[in-house]
Amino acid sequence: MQSVTKPLLDVLRGETRLPPPIWLMRQAGRYLPEYRAVRERAGDFLKLCLMPELAAEITLQPVRRFSFDAAILFSDILLIPYALGQRVWFVEGEGPRLEPIGDANDLARLEERSDLLVPVYEALARIKASLPPEVTLLGFCGAPWTVASYMIAGQGTPDQSPARLFAYRNPEAFAGLMDTLVESSARHLVRQLRAGADAVQVFDTWAGVLPPDELWRWCIVPTRRMITMLRTEIADAKVIAFPRGIGAAIRRYVDSVPLDALGLDWMIDLDFACQQVGRHIALQGNLDPLVLVAGGGALDRAVDEILEHSCARPFIFNLGHGILPQTPLAHVEQMLARVRGK
Ligand code: CP3
Repeated sequence: MQSVTKPLLDVLRGETRLPPPIWLMRQAGRYLPEYRAVRERAGDFLKLCLMPELAAEITLQPVRRFSFDAAILFSDILLIPYALGQRVWFVEGEGPRLEPIGDANDLARLEERSDLLVPVYEALARIKASLPPEVTLLGFCGAPWTVASYMIAGQGTPDQSPARLFAYRNPEAFAGLMDTLVESSARHLVRQLRAGADAVQVFDTWAGVLPPDELWRWCIVPTRRMITMLRTEIADAKVIAFPRGIGAAIRRYVDSVPLDALGLDWMIDLDFACQQVGRHIALQGNLDPLVLVAGGGALDRAVDEILEHSCARPFIFNLGHGILPQTPLAHVEQMLARVRGK
């Protein structure tokens, strides 16, 4: 039997594909009526993440509707703090809340209960079984710094200053938390790949708030360690990393973090990124999620601009951050048709 190729996985292996494969960060979510219907039935968001049948169903929804080239597991980066014993919940219309970590004593109480995440791996196995063979299945985790920043603050803040302050005041305790997160996250990625994921993405949503020395210490070094640990178990594990907002530091990042693709946020100039990052690393991005809300000629122009400046190299079309809940479905169709030349 001839095996079917997966265009997105081919790009992660260094091939150029035209048109480029496409998926969207947060593609399983509130902009989809079919997601809102399941969500309403299930009630609690965290519970939904831990119900394999429903998590699998939600993962498949955007692939069915839009024929994206990847499915990304429906889950959340805050399942790692949950598995470490921190209380995590979601406030309707606001976002995640965690019992904040105040001092080293709170940190000492964290202990991994990896059995709590078994439903996540079950969901992946289910998705794998019903996914079209040409679609790449992505697992993910948060980068240690981004996850730590929620664990310390207990929620998202404009610049994650509680965690930055904690790290300046208690560098040893903070380094201990980062070690814990590096190890738990690497194990989580290994288990996702073994359960059926073809590749993984590391979300470092808050990388961009760190000054250069802290970026090195809390973002680059721990992410490198996490991927290195993953690859001691699975040597050819394919990794996309998304260090949002690091701007000119992308060169330093790709020189030090062993990745297959770099996810670009919408603020970065694509020509600059192409110059800074060698062709052996694929690029992914970077449409402004707001221009997808706007639609019309502005959307067409923004899509063309990306295609023009990226496609002579291994490239994955995506947004520069997650799709916004108010995005009209017709605009997603418009973007897909334009990218695929239809
Ligand atoms: O991309 C996908 O479709 C896969 C699923 C996914 C979710 N969260 C589902 C989700 C992924 C990859 C994430 C990652 C995630 N979670 C990040 C990193 C990426 C990013 O967007 O910056 C972060 C910082 C979180 C933490 C988190 N979870 C926040 C800040 C929020 C609230 C804000 C929001 O966008 O709703 C969540 C909730 C969340 N995670 C929802 C979904 C579908 C919405 C839950 C709901 O109300 O139904």
